[in-house]
Amino acid sequence: MDKLVIEGGRRLSGTVTISGAKNACLPILAATLLSDDRSVIRNIPALRDMSTMLKILKNFGVRAQQEGSAVTVEPHGYKKYIAPYEQVSTMRASVCVLGPLLAKQRRAEVSFPGGCVIGPRPIDLHIKGLKALGAKIRVERGYILADGRNLKGGNVYLGGHFGSSVLATANVMMAATLAKGETVIENAACEPEVVDLTHFLIKMGARIKGVATHRLVIEGVKKLHGAEHSVIPDRIEAGTYILAAAATKGDITLKDVIPDHMVALIDKLTEAGLEMKKIPGGIRVRYVRKLRPMDITTLPYPGFPTDMQAQFMSLMAVTDGISVITEKIYPERFIHISELNRMGADILLEGASAIVKGVKNLSGAPVMASDLRASAALVLAGLVAKGRTDVQRIYHLDRGYEKIEEKLLKLGAKVWREKDK
Ligand code: EPZ
Repeated sequence: MDKLVIEGGRRLSGTVTISGAKNACLPILAATLLSDDRSVIRNIPALRDMSTMLKILKNFGVRAQQEGSAVTVEPHGYKKYIAPYEQVSTMRASVCVLGPLLAKQRRAEVSFPGGCVIGPRPIDLHIKGLKALGAKIRVERGYILADGRNLKGGNVYLGGHFGSSVLATANVMMAATLAKGETVIENAACEPEVVDLTHFLIKMGARIKGVATHRLVIEGVKKLHGAEHSVIPDRIEAGTYILAAAATKGDITLKDVIPDHMVALIDKLTEAGLEMKKIPGGIRVRYVRKLRPMDITTLPYPGFPTDMQAQFMSLMAVTDGISVITEKIYPERFIHISELNRMGADILLEGASAIVKGVKNLSGAPVMASDLRASAALVLAGLVAKGRTDVQRIYHLDRGYEKIEEKLLKLGAKVWREKDK
């Protein structure tokens, strides 16, 4: 198992290019299953989750090949419809093959994804939505068994206890593209990744109205064709580098970003005192004054993203004053707190809120990554801390951050990968 070693205390400066969005690529790759034709998806990052998704596609009998950052998918009459436990358990997002399989093959067997360290990950909204489209669904042997022989348009409200659902919206929308008649999804998620998927589906010939709103209207068509698409930049990767610049009192320019996808983060950090300037195709981030503590609450888009909560906490851990971070999407997504406290942070968990008392310094320590974004938070803490930090189990990080040590090295960090004994 690899670990990432960081000698902290260096100010980051320079330019970093942001990769394609992992969470847009996954449903878009799944959407290629809706057609028999060849699709080409560009700007795909080299990440472990991408390899997992390609394995899943190949398992259905689809040809999928990656060349650089382009993936060519050739479904050509694939017949299989089972996504096994061994694959789904390594990546919960693989549940997004459910909608496309159901629409195209009229049946699907997808392992039930279950929970994970960031909390329970129910799929009741996915099931509710697909049932509203006439699918018969039961759970047996740990699998979701779906029969779509009577698939037709329907109306569904996709709001849950924690608001809209990104992948439930993706699944139901994808199923609806080939379901006869009209489907209306109320309280649809409108994260940029869902919008990017919608654009790809429209390129495939889907008829969708209300793009980027909470009400999607889909008119089913008989057939979709292949399409070419370039995936949007990863707003969470971008946000992570912005926070790294802020935490190390740095000055970095991010290339290939869409600042409009990061309004909540930019708003909070500007309020905290960070200088952020949009430039063509990018954004420049400069630490020019002492930052103020901030309170944030995670919410569905365009609210503050849960996928930035842990990294934001690392910055607040070294920002003088008291910050409060409330998690409204995954109320248990706080495993990083104990590891940050091992590095000298002063963070107290109160229900679904973390009370963060800024400290002057963090000190390097061996820490354990528990999930993707928590790992990123530990890397940020390591970049600020005095001395050496060993972030163990970085396979989590490799799921979502392309060439992270290369990018950080280029920005002046002292960081390298080692085999863990
Ligand atoms: C997506 O997961 C992302 N994953 C997650 O990113 C992200 O944290 C999450 O959206 C929220 O933004 C991908 O896009 C691949 P949800 P998803 O359904 O779609 C509850 C990362 O680090 N819910 O929008 O699975 C759920 O428990 C990952 O890159 C139900 O109650 O998340 C949560 O509280 C982690 N019933 C809320 O909705 C359901 O059927 C939002 O989850 C589905 C979800």
